[in-house]
Amino acid sequence: MSTIVSPSLLAADFANLQQDVELVNESAAEWVHIDIMDGVFVPNISFGIPVCHAINRHAKVIQDVHLMIENPGRYVEDFRKAGADYITVHYEACRHLHRDIQLIHSTGAKAGVALNPHTPVEVLTEVIADLDLVLLMSVNPGFGGQKLIPGIYDKVKRLKALIEKSGSKALIEVDGGVNAESAPKLVEAGVDALVAGSYVFGSDDPKETIASLSQL
Ligand code: DX5
Ligand code: ZN
Repeated sequence: MSTIVSPSLLAADFANLQQDVELVNESAAEWVHIDIMDGVFVPNISFGIPVCHAINRHAKVIQDVHLMIENPGRYVEDFRKAGADYITVHYEACRHLHRDIQLIHSTGAKAGVALNPHTPVEVLTEVIADLDLVLLMSVNPGFGGQKLIPGIYDKVKRLKALIEKSGSKALIEVDGGVNAESAPKLVEAGVDALVAGSYVFGSDDPKETIASLSQL
């Protein structure tokens, strides 16, 4: 069994993005995680659609786009055109979540929904069968380098039970505070895809760090 690793470019060198995208291409990572923050849904601003186009010119892995923006349906087509393979919107940012999931699928992308730490997995009951991915935030979104909230392990198990009960094919991704200590426990709990930013790009040998996560 190997685990999907989605290194988060939020922790990359923004002045040398091509270099870090190529590093991910050459690593064991199957995905690359792209964090979009609007300064409204979360108290930080990262980068937007033109930077995604630039990443897309170099990325050879699946582009896993995490939209931390209010009313994300407005920009789904733009992110798809900029290369997104998975488009993940936040439950808390969508007034009409079902419509936004349909919109993502209409572009040909895979659809994900992200849940903040305070949001229970049961809110996804009516849409779980339509989802390709559920992203559980294990920190409050907005910043890299935070400590994982321990309640995540039980939350992963509850989500896995919901997915199995519904017959959904959705993958489980965890985002925030993933490192050598938390990653094995997350995989044990049922996680399919690990997002890791500072743990990967802050390490001496990012490719080796990615390889160690993918072997879990
Ligand atoms: C945080 C972002 C994460 C972030 C994770 O809001 O969604 O993807 O890059 O960073 P680390 O792995 O450093 O916790
Ligand atoms: Zn993220």
